[in-house]
Amino acid sequence: MSAGLTPAATPSGADRIVPVRSFDVEAIRRDFPILASTVNGKPLVYLDNAATSQKPRPVIETIMRYYAAENANIHRGVHWLSELATAKHEAARVKVQHFINAAAAREIIFVRGATEAINLVAQSWGRANLRPGDEILVTGMEHHSNIVPWQIVCEATGAILRAAPFSDRGQLLLGEFDRMLTGKTRLVAVTHVSNALGTINPVHRIVQAAHDRGALALIDGCQAIPHMPVDVRELDCDFYVFSGHKVFGPTGIGALYGKEKLLDAMPPYQGGGDMIKSVSFEKTTYNDLPYKFEAGTPHIAGAIGLGAALDYIQDIGMRRINEYENQLLTRATNAISEIPGVRIIGTPPCKASLISFVIDGIHPHDIGTILDQEGIAIRTGHHCAQPVMERLGVPATARASFAFYNTHQEADALVRAIRKVIEVFN
Ligand code: ALA
Repeated sequence: MSAGLTPAATPSGADRIVPVRSFDVEAIRRDFPILASTVNGKPLVYLDNAATSQKPRPVIETIMRYYAAENANIHRGVHWLSELATAKHEAARVKVQHFINAAAAREIIFVRGATEAINLVAQSWGRANLRPGDEILVTGMEHHSNIVPWQIVCEATGAILRAAPFSDRGQLLLGEFDRMLTGKTRLVAVTHVSNALGTINPVHRIVQAAHDRGALALIDGCQAIPHMPVDVRELDCDFYVFSGHKVFGPTGIGALYGKEKLLDAMPPYQGGGDMIKSVSFEKTTYNDLPYKFEAGTPHIAGAIGLGAALDYIQDIGMRRINEYENQLLTRATNAISEIPGVRIIGTPPCKASLISFVIDGIHPHDIGTILDQEGIAIRTGHHCAQPVMERLGVPATARASFAFYNTHQEADALVRAIRKVIEVFN
């Protein structure tokens, strides 16, 4: 692991929050080759981390090494390479287990990403357990991937999808949420951190409330896992899902955590090789956890790469990452708030590392295009959260999202570029 960390440096006068210890962010950046790129003749300022994160050398090298020296199919061969690849793949599962403090590695199912994880729960648990009139409760700030899978299973089962509202500031209305959580609610599915607003939801409290009503709780952790420590046993959630590519790992890999008792009782999601114990035309029996849910050759390199990514950020420390990113967020939020004509969309008291904003009279796509000319990558649009846009009466937003490799100078470059957008349009 090559991320460079230094003990406390004298904090710069410009910082409003003084960290206990500071990162050597420049040393960390050297681990991410892409961050040295130039775009439109300017140094790349990558602020689209909520869409996907960049990959450090240890992840890139782990994947290269896998294909160069370790590649074989897993769980199938008695030969040396197959055993090596199997050991690496299963070691990655243990890394995920430890990263989120699951009780056992068999509670970790490798999937393509959070979207597949939610579809798995919806199709497997949902079809087996939902009856007409049962309810699934989500919030109004969910990503489409935590809405549409439930709509599909509701259509199939006669269950009803309900969405708890949020305030103009983007805070979940807990009173409304509690009111909508009734004896009919079978499952609560809530994002840990909103990808469109940055809101951190009180998921511990939400899980407890769900359990008090006899409902299960699924947490979409895509936007939380890269930014803060997550402990599924402390949360006591029944399911927790996240995507590898948002946490500095490869695309096409993610994890579903589920409590063993629940996963055990759930029917398979897909059929195929590796998920069976025996197959005959008379009777097929299914494999044990976690393999029951992993039909076909999995994304072996992806899982191993994800393990390397989790090692990398764990070495830096999730609390330190969180602390550092909060500084970036505060710095950028304070400066952007002072620009006339700019409105931040999502100002709840508890917020993670992103800023959605609109500028009077300027379409977010135009903001994104001008920022791109400055080498600054942000996302513009509805962020796969159309109900959020509808609720707040905006067609789209511009969204800058930070990672721990972003610098205070980059936050300042964003602010300067936003001012430039306004100048160009005036
Ligand atoms: N869900 C990802 C985002 O928020 C793609 O950008």
